[in-house]
Amino acid sequence: MSFEFVDLRSDTVTRPTPSMRKAMAEAEVGDDVYGEDPTVNALQEEAARLMGKEAALFVASGTMGNAVCVKAHTQPGEEAVMEATCHIYWFENGGMAAISGVIPKLVPSDHGILDPQKVREALRPAVYYLPRPSLLCVENTHNMGGGTCTPVPVLHELRAVARERGMATHLDGARIFNAATALGVAPSEVAAPFDSVQFCISKGLCAPVGSLVCGTKEFIEKARVIRKRLGGGMRQAGVLAAAGLVAFKEIVPTLKDDHRRARTLAMKLASHPDFSVEIDWVQTNIVMAKVRPPKTTAQVCAALKERGVLASPAGPANIRFVTHHDIDDAALARALEALDKPF
Ligand SMILES: Cc1ncc(COP(=O)(O)O)c(C=O)c1O
Repeated sequence: MSFEFVDLRSDTVTRPTPSMRKAMAEAEVGDDVYGEDPTVNALQEEAARLMGKEAALFVASGTMGNAVCVKAHTQPGEEAVMEATCHIYWFENGGMAAISGVIPKLVPSDHGILDPQKVREALRPAVYYLPRPSLLCVENTHNMGGGTCTPVPVLHELRAVARERGMATHLDGARIFNAATALGVAPSEVAAPFDSVQFCISKGLCAPVGSLVCGTKEFIEKARVIRKRLGGGMRQAGVLAAAGLVAFKEIVPTLKDDHRRARTLAMKLASHPDFSVEIDWVQTNIVMAKVRPPKTTAQVCAALKERGVLASPAGPANIRFVTHHDIDDAALARALEALDKPF
């Protein structure tokens, strides 16, 4: 058997489970551009129900989900307000500018948790020659913040700030099920303050491809037009959607185990001489560990690899470790062992 690394780079590395592969092989399919794929329709209905929204749309990726929503909510020349290290700004190739013609207004935060008052202060006055802030984007859990969760009452405060100015609200809920699990609430409660939400089935939920955009029926009809324009109209996509339906039933209940393992890993990293970890901010499946100089993130990642463990540099000083379904207790034990001695 070939050597398998303990791959903690991302929850996107998860592979579909045997029951997903079976469901994919057996999925009933049709042409989804005609709205005739029963499995896609079932996934969309279930996604809408779980998010407490009227309707949902299956899209190719989280990036496409965010792009479709930003486009649907804004006009060129307007401003989208978002946290300074969020995924939409950093990791989506400037899609909001290229596709929607909007400019970002970045609001710094503590570990990715937006402060409603700081958002209020960041909004430009309503003067005709200033870009109109028309959309507030929130990320929950927050990736670069270290998988942190914004509590539901704060989400409602953020919505209230947006509404004071007639702005729409969008949730990048790529990992909304992690947030809901950690906060001990239904995902619909996390989604409630938002006009739209996109969440991924291809991260910790193990499905191979796809995200769901959720909102009102009217919003989803608009989103469907934009998806097609972006080349995202898929045909027999039920083969992919089938995995998502399995994920809701079988993987979501296991996310709490990913969180438990992340915490165990964080404790180990916190006791290691080459790292420091803010343990209170380890809330879900992501651990951000700061490398103590003079060691560098590149050196430490290379040394970890030598010891059979993969992790990713995240910025100049941090290494990101992500637990997920393919990291069971035995894999975690191997990761902990790799951290038994200094680098
Ligand atoms: C918070 C967040 N939003 C959006 C995305 C984009 O998802 P995708 O890789 O499916 O485009 C990611 C991917 O890592 C993410 O972490």
